[in-house]
Amino acid sequence: MTLTIDEMATFCRRKGFVFPSSEIYGGLAGFYDYGPLGVELKNNIKQQWWKYHVQDREDVVGIDGTTVTHRKIWEASGHTANFADIMVQCTKCNERYRADTLIEDVLKVRTDGLKAGELDVLIKDNKVACPKCRGPLGTAAAFNLMFVTYVGPTQSPETLAYLRPETAQLIFTNFKNVVDTSRVKLPFGIAQVGRAYRNEISPRNFLFRLREFEAMEIEYFIHPKDVGNCELLNDVLNTRLLLWSADAQKKKMPETEMTVKEALDKGIIKTPWIAYWLATEYSWFRMLGCDPSRLRCRQHVPDELSHYSADTWDTEYNFPFGWKELQGFANRQDFDLQQHMKHSGQQLTLYDEENKQHVVPHVICEPALGVDRAFLLFMFDAYHDDKDRGNVVLRFHPSLAPIKVGVFPLVNKLEDKARDIFKMLKAEFACQFDRSGSIGRRYARADEIGIPFCVTIDFDTIEKDQAVTVRNRDTTKQIRVPIAVLAETLHKLLAGRIEFDKAGTPIASTPVA
Ligand code: GAP
Repeated sequence: MTLTIDEMATFCRRKGFVFPSSEIYGGLAGFYDYGPLGVELKNNIKQQWWKYHVQDREDVVGIDGTTVTHRKIWEASGHTANFADIMVQCTKCNERYRADTLIEDVLKVRTDGLKAGELDVLIKDNKVACPKCRGPLGTAAAFNLMFVTYVGPTQSPETLAYLRPETAQLIFTNFKNVVDTSRVKLPFGIAQVGRAYRNEISPRNFLFRLREFEAMEIEYFIHPKDVGNCELLNDVLNTRLLLWSADAQKKKMPETEMTVKEALDKGIIKTPWIAYWLATEYSWFRMLGCDPSRLRCRQHVPDELSHYSADTWDTEYNFPFGWKELQGFANRQDFDLQQHMKHSGQQLTLYDEENKQHVVPHVICEPALGVDRAFLLFMFDAYHDDKDRGNVVLRFHPSLAPIKVGVFPLVNKLEDKARDIFKMLKAEFACQFDRSGSIGRRYARADEIGIPFCVTIDFDTIEKDQAVTVRNRDTTKQIRVPIAVLAETLHKLLAGRIEFDKAGTPIASTPVA
């Protein structure tokens, strides 16, 4: 991967994918706005996620909770007391840094799970100074990441509310509502896609660490007697994963590729439900064209675990700034439901008819993926600087491509006919009409925003064959397709239901404007 994260940010800005938020007032660190192409890509990612995780399954239902939330939710969940990062402040210029990322940057070591005291020792022993003014750094201390707001006209401890730092808690607080109104039976999941807010100490790396981001999460509830028994495991036993266990990290051994079955047999993944979700998510990324060599599953080392988690794995992606968390898989056990029962006084249980008792389900695995990080992954995976063509090609999977079809009149005289075809296709796909510049320039522009197929209308279309030229973004191959079957053929091509060469009559050369 040759592109840096800053170069990707520049590319995204130039092409209308992502803009710095509040840019005309100088920007706001950690906030980005999605532009015309970015919003399409982001919506496609969310739609694909929802389809795969909710609509295509029988055991997962969805909710959409609020982002301004009752303060008691976060007292119960432990976020008020524990949701903090370690901060250091420069004693000279007062600049603040997240201690772990500062040390990782300066000393090039991993800091997973290190406590404030241990980070302090590293800073002192290695004389790490303020990167801005070289001044000495103060003592590392915890900083709570939740954004505060007030509900109504008065500001008091009673009206204080939080912008949710994760979507998960709205799933737990709605647990009983969902159980009482849907026909869910254990095991089942509740999914949610929505915004979350974290007052990150040092937002960085473009969309990677934001102060406002979106998450796609599932809380998957299991009967306590089934925590070690995953009934869906057979579906994934042969999926190959690149795994880096806590033990291997401790022994400084590299990650190893193996099947889910081998990982469970060797005790590398101890919980079948975690294995199931790691593999299921990995298959989702693969299905959308992600390069598997850039994905690995890393287990959290014990000191790194969140306050609610007994075991956590992350899927990491090899970003240009190193392997970093893409998606988390925490074993939250029954921590959250128990806490909410204690704090709210409500019964968040299910009745087990067989054993005639109320049970508190466990969440053995919570797959939690950031939309913005997935967006970055799909941008990096798609980005190819094609030296032969002399332009960038974004090789998006067709289902993610912001624009599916480009429509071009070969010359402006053919615009009316091209517009008729554009109108017909626009009713079916996200399309773009482009009439300016040479046809080669228009293909290059389409490549740069990842349009999978371009349709060119030429004189033969009108005078001879009532057909158009369809060009494949990835191979630049071209076929002739009759207008009568054009929409149907494009549907098949976009869904991968037909090979390009068989979708029309292959033609040799590019039409010249
Ligand atoms: N409910 C569990 C939870 O919130 P998390 O690992 O803190 O877990 C889930 O967050 C996912 O959200 C992460 O794997 C990451 O993809 C994304 N994410 C977390 N913090 C983020 C931030 N500051 N900016 C962008 N994405 C973030």
